[in-house]
Amino acid sequence: MSLTQDALWHKDAVIYQVHVRTFSDSNGDGVGDFQGLAQRLDYLQELGINAIWLMPFFPSPLRDDGYDISDYESVHPAYGTLEDFKKFLAGAHERGIRVIIEMVLNHTSDQHPWFQESRSSQNNPRRDWYVWSETDTRYRGTRIIFVDTEMSNWAWDPISKSYYWHRFFSHQPDLNYDNPAVREQMWNVMKFWLEIGVDAFRLDAVPYLVEREGTSCENLPETHAILKELRRKVDQEFPGRMLLAEANQWPADLRPYFGDGDEFHMAFHFPLMPRMFMGLKLEDRKPITEIMQQTPEIPASCQWCLFLRNHDELTLEMVTDMERDYMYDVYAGSKSMRLNLGIRRRLAPLLDNDRRRIELMNGMLMSLPGTPIIYYGDEIGMGDNIYLGDRNGVRTPMQWSGGWNGGFSSADPESLYSPLLLNPVYGYQAVNVLSQKRTEHSLLSWMQRIIRVRRSTRVFGAGSIEFLYPANHRVLAYVRQLGNETVLVVNNVSSSAQAVELDLRRYKGNILIEMFGRNIFPRVGDLPYLLTMGPYQFYWFRLRRI
Ligand code: NOJ
Repeated sequence: MSLTQDALWHKDAVIYQVHVRTFSDSNGDGVGDFQGLAQRLDYLQELGINAIWLMPFFPSPLRDDGYDISDYESVHPAYGTLEDFKKFLAGAHERGIRVIIEMVLNHTSDQHPWFQESRSSQNNPRRDWYVWSETDTRYRGTRIIFVDTEMSNWAWDPISKSYYWHRFFSHQPDLNYDNPAVREQMWNVMKFWLEIGVDAFRLDAVPYLVEREGTSCENLPETHAILKELRRKVDQEFPGRMLLAEANQWPADLRPYFGDGDEFHMAFHFPLMPRMFMGLKLEDRKPITEIMQQTPEIPASCQWCLFLRNHDELTLEMVTDMERDYMYDVYAGSKSMRLNLGIRRRLAPLLDNDRRRIELMNGMLMSLPGTPIIYYGDEIGMGDNIYLGDRNGVRTPMQWSGGWNGGFSSADPESLYSPLLLNPVYGYQAVNVLSQKRTEHSLLSWMQRIIRVRRSTRVFGAGSIEFLYPANHRVLAYVRQLGNETVLVVNNVSSSAQAVELDLRRYKGNILIEMFGRNIFPRVGDLPYLLTMGPYQFYWFRLRRI
């Protein structure tokens, strides 16, 4: 089966984020690989997702888990071969699953031959492929991102005796996008993968492509011009393929990444995510409604990407200092849970392994405007290991069963790329796919169900949103609408039972059909619509005039 040329597929997608190394090891060397991932496609299809976002799988010294690329046009040998990738891609497509791969435009590894050449001497033809300087005092207005590791965005190169610019680790030199040869080369890299048939790119760290004195070196017009040019080429040569922006910015700075529908198709909604956690802890809808009010309209063909967790720390860059202190206080009591400006924990531990809160957060993820992303393992409530360095604690092997190495690998446990979780609450014997498949009420079964319900209508992906503001501020309620489909979502973000009166006069005469059980609730009349809700409960209702 070939995927239809639906130019708006990204609006109806449910994305599963996975790193090939973490998922399934087919050859017993302790590292997940493409053959292993391909064998798990049936699992993903059953879960109901229809797109996979793969973290970088290219040759790399793996000092930033593959975001430090040393060759853009092949596969890291530990993960298999290009042939294996192509087979995996074909397998995904056969199942109607699209594949989004990572494209790290901003920087390479210092082991990349381009950088090796560039640093080899000041007059090497590739010298100008990176950003060099005689001093480390240029671009002073630029913030440091990995504040726990780096003191400066400049690093000294002892070989060519000058400084090079890097926004992330010092082993990740930034490419120089003022150089047309770099721009052309990176388009060639993208073309290489588009020709192989990938459906989309997540473009890493896009705000930082261009540097200019006297600015923050983020979101510059020159950067947007480069991105627009890439989009133009994609549309021209590969219509229907999609670009997703990783731009960790405030809503007003994010908006330009959509352009007039001529830059990115999608962008992560970074500011919303921490505010969902904040609302839950404060037992108040305000952080969520406030950020949604500040969220600008985007062109009709564009879409937000929503997520609860991913492979990085739960970033607290897009919150105020006070909000950050609060988040640390309530979600990262121990210092070892903190990293840079964020919290390195997974969803289930963040929510005290409380099934009700996990369901509520996923309920909001799937019903607020945007395309949801599920981080691998969160569908079974996997835990984390805060004793592993950097962000590795949220990248432990997928837990398939209670057997040897949790079904991830047949290797000696000592040789795995990362230890499995072993504790009695989150360890693989307690939390795994096999056991959750056996019970209809497991988190996994519930996730399957909510994905199915979400995908039963296009209203969540493409519909408008209007917030209701009932007097009870522990309840977050909104109406999603598309054509003649209207869905009412009501979330109790508090830990206690609540009654709420909703003003639904506009829908007078409609009945409410609860979307999970398909049960009919009373018809809307003249009086405020009264609902009672248990702790952390949520409802999705279809409104019908029958
Ligand atoms: C953002 C990625 O999500 C993160 O994992 C990585 O370390 C940086 N970009 C640098 O590429």
